[in-house]
Amino acid sequence: MKILIATDKPFAAEAVQGIREIVEKAGYELALLEKYTEKKQLLDAVSDADAAIIRSDIFDKEVLSAGKKLKIVVRAGAGFDNIDLDAATANNICVMNTPGQNANAVAELTFGLAVYAIRNFYDGTSGTELLGKKLGIHAYGNVGRNVARIAKGFGMDVYTFDPFLTKEQIEKEGVKALGSVEELYSTCQFISVNIPATAETKNSINYKLLMGMPKKAVIINTARKEVINEADMVKVLAERNDIKYVTDIKPDNHGELVSKFGDRYFSTPKKMGAQTAEANINAGLAAARQIVDFIENGNERFRVNKK
Ligand code: 3PG
Repeated sequence: MKILIATDKPFAAEAVQGIREIVEKAGYELALLEKYTEKKQLLDAVSDADAAIIRSDIFDKEVLSAGKKLKIVVRAGAGFDNIDLDAATANNICVMNTPGQNANAVAELTFGLAVYAIRNFYDGTSGTELLGKKLGIHAYGNVGRNVARIAKGFGMDVYTFDPFLTKEQIEKEGVKALGSVEELYSTCQFISVNIPATAETKNSINYKLLMGMPKKAVIINTARKEVINEADMVKVLAERNDIKYVTDIKPDNHGELVSKFGDRYFSTPKKMGAQTAEANINAGLAAARQIVDFIENGNERFRVNKK
């Protein structure tokens, strides 16, 4: 059995070592493709792999079809919008994620970005604080829960909207549940975007939602660029010079945002939310264990595609 780690953005060395130990203990072989620059390298690497551990690496129809022996692909992380699930099913490939394993790392970066924004990108001028401010968590999944836990430490007033949870489920954790996404955005000065990119959520954070936000609003995006309507964000930042946007996922119109709103907009150069040794170890080792358990015992617990 050959297990491939295909990561354009490499794991920490300790995570790769931990994966290697799990794979070799099971009697399998490990192959490593990191920082690849051409799709061809990925196509070659998957050609003789039985399983793959990936991150945001694009596993489209072509890549999945090139993996003639592939039985399972595990996305070491939460979002699997980078994988063509229908093509995987058609090729009899099981796709899994490792939910929650990198959530704390992403949540911590949320506050790194928030403080950076309200201290005016550390330009030496007087900024503001998080204490006592309203934070809206959109929405309350694994990252959202960690954001809430940390926000309480900052003394923030924490709200969320999550259509998949009841008011009781949310409020027993000391977070206020609001009835709609509009209410969340109109109530909270700070918004932490924690929704996946799906057909329903793409472009859903739009002009109307953003214009409804209170004065000195700050939008912190550690989720996906696709959930923000980028043209609307430009309009909003132009019409409301009190709003700031900080993101861990460089928008397609990054250059325009920098040139027009450089003092109120910031993007990390590369998605850094899950880029910690701890998150890499948690997610990477979980992925390796899931692969071994799938091959040895047929365990499909974290499967995300149809059979
Ligand atoms: C995720 O979906 O798990 C996060 O966005 C992290 O993605 P990454 O592994 O590509 O950093």
